[in-house]
Amino acid sequence: MSEYTSKKPVIAVVGAGPGIGEAVARRFTAEGFVVALLARTEDKLQKMAVGIDADYGAGTAHSYITDLREEQSVISSFHRIRSDLGPVDVLVYNAGARRVNGRSVLDTTTEEFEGFTKINLFGAFWATKCVLPDMLAAGRGTIIYTGATGSLRGNPGLSSFSPGKFGLRSLSQIVTREYQEKGIHAAHIIVDTPVDGKLIGEFSRRQWQRQGQGEKLDDIDAHLARPADLAQIYWFLHTQPRSAWTQELDVRPQKVSMFSKL
Ligand SMILES: NC(=O)c1ccc[n+]([C@@H]2O[C@H](COP(=O)([O-])OP(=O)(O)OC[C@H]3O[C@@H](n4cnc5c(N)ncnc54)[C@H](OP(=O)(O)O)[C@@H]3O)[C@@H](O)[C@H]2O)c1
Repeated sequence: MSEYTSKKPVIAVVGAGPGIGEAVARRFTAEGFVVALLARTEDKLQKMAVGIDADYGAGTAHSYITDLREEQSVISSFHRIRSDLGPVDVLVYNAGARRVNGRSVLDTTTEEFEGFTKINLFGAFWATKCVLPDMLAAGRGTIIYTGATGSLRGNPGLSSFSPGKFGLRSLSQIVTREYQEKGIHAAHIIVDTPVDGKLIGEFSRRQWQRQGQGEKLDDIDAHLARPADLAQIYWFLHTQPRSAWTQELDVRPQKVSMFSKL
């Protein structure tokens, strides 16, 4: 085994963007973790890592350019994480992708179905396989998968999204049933709401402005989930005592009705 530059606990955030991904990275590094940030875009990863290092100390955040649609890319990143930081204690599989405007089954190409399903499901399968051996050797580990409203029921237009998200939910249950007794706490979080991130948050704000629903902008955290508030739930799941482990939970802001998009 290589020497590790750090003895701190390690979290891998797979699908690290400026929304939930960065918020989870920050929540755990605030508690003394070092973080491996995995995504495709180098400059976004670098910016995030520089910001986390500035707040929590040099060497806290490490970037790994990864395309989750490629098994070899996932395996290679996890090899480098292990060699740089040591075994992963917490895996958060946060990547998810879909078309903004839905398309019917007949209008959805095989390439689109395959590409999104690789991000929503295959990447999680590969990442899970990369971290499980070390977690099992240690007799403990946390794996948290980010779900969405579309993880529970199919919605018209989302044929290239929901099947992968359903599969991810199923994977989280299988990992739980196969490995929980060996110390692995796997959990699935159904984010049943738009998140107040750069893409969806700003889109929602513009839409409410256009539609004369400006009152929502004055009451934003009742309508959009704040990434930092969601990150608190990931930390809560990781720190649950083993006599009371949650396998799945759902979450939404006060004024978003439950499963309203189904
Ligand atoms: N945003 C919402 O409103 C919302 C609502 C409900 C559920 N969710 C769920 O929340 C999760 C995402 O959280 P977020 O929206 O806040 O996003 P985020 O954490 O800001 O970013 C996620 C990152 O995943 C990365 N990613 C996408 N495809 C990838 C690929 N092929 N390989 C490597 N990385 C990839 C993207 O970075 P690169 O492009 O640089 O690769 C993206 O920045 C998803 O599971 C989604 O289904 C989101």
